[in-house]
Amino acid sequence: MKIQWLVLILVELLVLILVILRNHAPLSAPSGGFNLIQDFNDQHVTDMANFAVSEFNKQTGATLKFEKVIKGESQVVAGRNYHLIISTSNSLHSIYNIVVYDRPWDHFRNLTSFIPVIDDDYVFYYTLNQPSLID
Ligand SMILES: *[C@@H]1O[C@H](CO)[C@@H](O)[C@H](O)[C@H]1NC(C)=O
Repeated sequence: MKIQWLVLILVELLVLILVILRNHAPLSAPSGGFNLIQDFNDQHVTDMANFAVSEFNKQTGATLKFEKVIKGESQVVAGRNYHLIISTSNSLHSIYNIVVYDRPWDHFRNLTSFIPVIDDDYVFYYTLNQPSLID
């Protein structure tokens, strides 16, 4: 009887410890995880979008103008991948699904992917492994 009580108390203590640990887990996602971007007007996020548009224009001769970020998430890698859905003007397609790789410490940035979203299909999908328009 006494041992059963002891086991019960130990189990409850363990649950309590697990709950405390879980509530104190760091909020930032581990490497490889995705964080939804909450603030579409964030300077760094719009920098990424503007970089993608000007890079795309440079590489293709297009004259897209960046309008706004519609949706986005970032992924911590060795640096950070920004997956954004943006709207542009001045072209047949206005919505694009883009990926920009950003490595702030040595100011390295690369447009990985720039793919029109057909029929305003806002479904968010990862484009890293899909063929890129700029290749
Ligand atoms: C930039 O991204 C493109 C597309 O993924 C890739 O082919 C190219 O090698 C990258 N450039 C650099 C310098 O990493």
